Parts: sequence; C-alpha cells; structure tokens
Amino acid sequence: MQEYEINQKGNFCVGGADVTELAQRYGTPLYVYDENVVRGSIRAFKKSMEDNYDGNGMVLYASKAFSCKEIYRIAQSEGIGADVVSAGELYTALSAGFSPENIFFHGNNKTQEEIEFAVKNNVGCFVVDNIFELKSLSRIAEQYNKRVRIMFRIKPGIDAHTHDFVRTGQIDSKFGFALETGEAKQAVLQALSGEYPGIELIGLHCHIGSQIFDVDPFCLAAEVMLDFMIEMKKETGVTLGELNLGGGFGIRYTDDDSPRPYGEYMGSVSKVIKNKCLECGFPTPKIYIEPGRSIIAQAGTTLYKVGAVKNIPNVRTYVSIDGGMVDNPRYILYGSKYDLLIANKASQQKSDIVTVAGKCCESGDLIQENVKLQPVEVGDILAVLATGAYNYSMASNYNRICRPAAVMVKDGQARVIIKRESFEDLVRNDV
Ligand code: LLP
Repeated sequence: MQEYEINQKGNFCVGGADVTELAQRYGTPLYVYDENVVRGSIRAFKKSMEDNYDGNGMVLYASKAFSCKEIYRIAQSEGIGADVVSAGELYTALSAGFSPENIFFHGNNKTQEEIEFAVKNNVGCFVVDNIFELKSLSRIAEQYNKRVRIMFRIKPGIDAHTHDFVRTGQIDSKFGFALETGEAKQAVLQALSGEYPGIELIGLHCHIGSQIFDVDPFCLAAEVMLDFMIEMKKETGVTLGELNLGGGFGIRYTDDDSPRPYGEYMGSVSKVIKNKCLECGFPTPKIYIEPGRSIIAQAGTTLYKVGAVKNIPNVRTYVSIDGGMVDNPRYILYGSKYDLLIANKASQQKSDIVTVAGKCCESGDLIQENVKLQPVEVGDILAVLATGAYNYSMASNYNRICRPAAVMVKDGQARVIIKRESFEDLVRNDV
C-alpha cells in the first residue's frame, strides 16, 4: 500500500510542503516536484554503477521525460550527463549551462538544422539512427572542421513489452539499424572505412523499451550488443569501447507495479558484460544508461481543483478537474494507471468510486476511471501521484488551455521552476 506523507492538518505533503497550501499560493493545475526525490534517484543510479561496474560508465538523464532549465541544472550538479532528442531539448540544456560534452543527441530524423546546431555547440556524442544521418553528419562536421563522436543505434531484436519478453529477431521499429539483416554490420563497416572523415565511431547504443520491470531483457540486450561488438572486433580489428544500454526501468505508479531496485538491474547487467568480456578477451566497455521516467516520475505530483461533481445514477460519478489531457495525456494515450487522493482529506478513507474527468472538449479526456477516492466535494484539491515523467513534456494547449506552472520543493520550501502560461503566451505566435 502506498503510504502518503500527511501533516497534522491531515493534508497531503510533498517534500515537507502542504500541497493544499501550494495550490492556494501558486494556483492549479500545478506540477509539484520534490528535489530530494530527484537527486535521490540520480544518486541511486550512480551508486549502482559504482558498486557494480567500478564506476566505468555514466548515467545520462533522458530529458524527454521532463525538460526544463532547472532539471538540467540539477542533473549537472549531480555529475550526470543528458540525452536529448531535439534541438529544442538541446537548446534548453545549453541555456541552463549544461556541459555539451556530456550530452548525447538522439533521434531518428535529426534535421540538417538540428545537426548543424549540435555540431556547432560541440555535443559530446551523436547517436546515429540511419545511414542518411551518417552522411549528413559527417559532411556538416567536416564543414566545421570537426570530427564528431558517434554511436550507432542498434535494434537488438528484443521485445520487452510482450508479457513474456521475446527475442524476435528484427523487431518492427522505426529506430536504428537492424542486426538480423546485416544492416548494423554494414553501417559499422562504412563508419570505419574512412569514407566519413567527419565522424568517429566510438560505440553502440540500444534501447529496448520503457516501463520494464524484468531484469532479463536488459541482460539479454547487453549480451546481444556485446556479441556484436566482439564480432566487429574480429572482422575489423577495431575495438568499440563504449556501450549505451538506454533507459526503460519501470517505476511504481500504483500498487500493481513492483519495480526492482536499480542496483539489481545494474548488478545483473554488469555480470553479463564482465563475464562475456572475460570469456572472449574483450576489454570491458565504458557503459551508459539513460533513465528518464525512473529519475523523475515519482518526484512529480499534479494538483488540480475540483470544479464539479456529477453523479449519474446507476452509471458513474464524474469529478471534473481544472486540467486533464492537456497536462497529462497519458491516460487518453495509454490508459495509464495512477494513484490519486484528495489532498485536503488525505487522512480520510477512500470510500467513493469516481471517474476523474478533464476540462477539454473530448469525451476521452479522463485522468482515471472508476477509482477509489475520499468523498469529493467542489473546491477539493486532487493530487495525482507519479506524474513527473512524460506529463509536462507531453502537455499541449488543446482548447487554448494554458500550460500549468511547475514548482520544485526542497525541504518544505517551494520555488517556481516553470511559470504558468499566460493568455499572452498563447497568442504570441499568432499573426
Ligand atoms: N533512451 C531512449 C533512446 C529512449 O527512447 C527513451 C524513451 C529513454 C532513453 C528513456 O526511457 P525511460 O527510462 O523514461 O523509460 N511517452 C511514454 C514514454 C516514451 C519513452 C520513449 N523513449 C510514456 O509516457 O510512457
């Protein structure tokens, strides 16, 4: 059972701050982040790498989960790198003073402008998705008299999202080079051929999915990738010394989820890599992991104000809130489960079954269906937990609704890290 942080007033708290008071001070909807939780999860990943892999690696925050200046500042101060997937994320990181050499640039269709922007700004590594990108990247790097470090994104052929994960050979994915067809090998040979003087191939990357609880698919992916690195060494004599294993570690949204501690994942994967390297006389590569959700999701809570409670006899009770799919599109997109409570009645029993509806002109705009909540009244503050990842970052202005503000709480004190959008912001680009 989820244990809530509750103060003497019986109100729900995040990081020592009474969220009912935060809602009053900053308005709703409001994203509330707990800085100690963010830093704690970053440290847990770093520690697991130190304990299990002699620290021969780096944690990269997958910033698509939540990108804003403050989060890059926190990541930087914790000594980790970042993965970005667009010039926009890159721009945000750079404008927060993030070290470009610790940035990995992803994406299956980086535009010429994005590549140029990243090359000019000395991004540490490009994760190259396809042969077209390899060509333009090398050309652009040459124009700037640079040689950029690259990894190839490989499809290791592991589908971690089936009930029992499977080795499917070539999975149907728009990302990366397939191993099965020889496409990956061809790419490595081309990169090493000297034909592309603007690039230096330093290693390989894979990412097998997201919200994965099982350790085994990660181990299998690591093994498949190492086998390929060893094969490439045999064929070319070149040792690719770096391996990026992506992100995807599952987190707890509700009691149905039981994630493993990061250490367990890192312990198992490290063992696979070390054993394989020992067996084949291959030097243990420097590794990278790219956690996004598992760094930021549980640090975030969204607060809403209840504006209407509509009971449809023998059907259901709708609780209407002042946000919805615009600030959290994960329910309408994926049917995602969340844990929620009435923040100002946190010590009361959850006794009513309700459906939480957003305020958009869209019937599917729900946050959760048929969930247990404390008795709800208009004016109550609803808190939805573990909304730190892929909520703000996927938010929209549908119905011209302003994006909420975000505050960061540390030891009971809150500070605004993203301002609430204004009507002026909404029309800024209208001509
Ligand atoms: N690295 C790569 C190359 C990725 O594509 C992703 C996520 C990550 C790292 C981080 O994965 P994480 O640790 O956060 O699971 N919008 C979806 C999630 C999409 C994930 C896309 N790629 C959601 O809301 O669940």
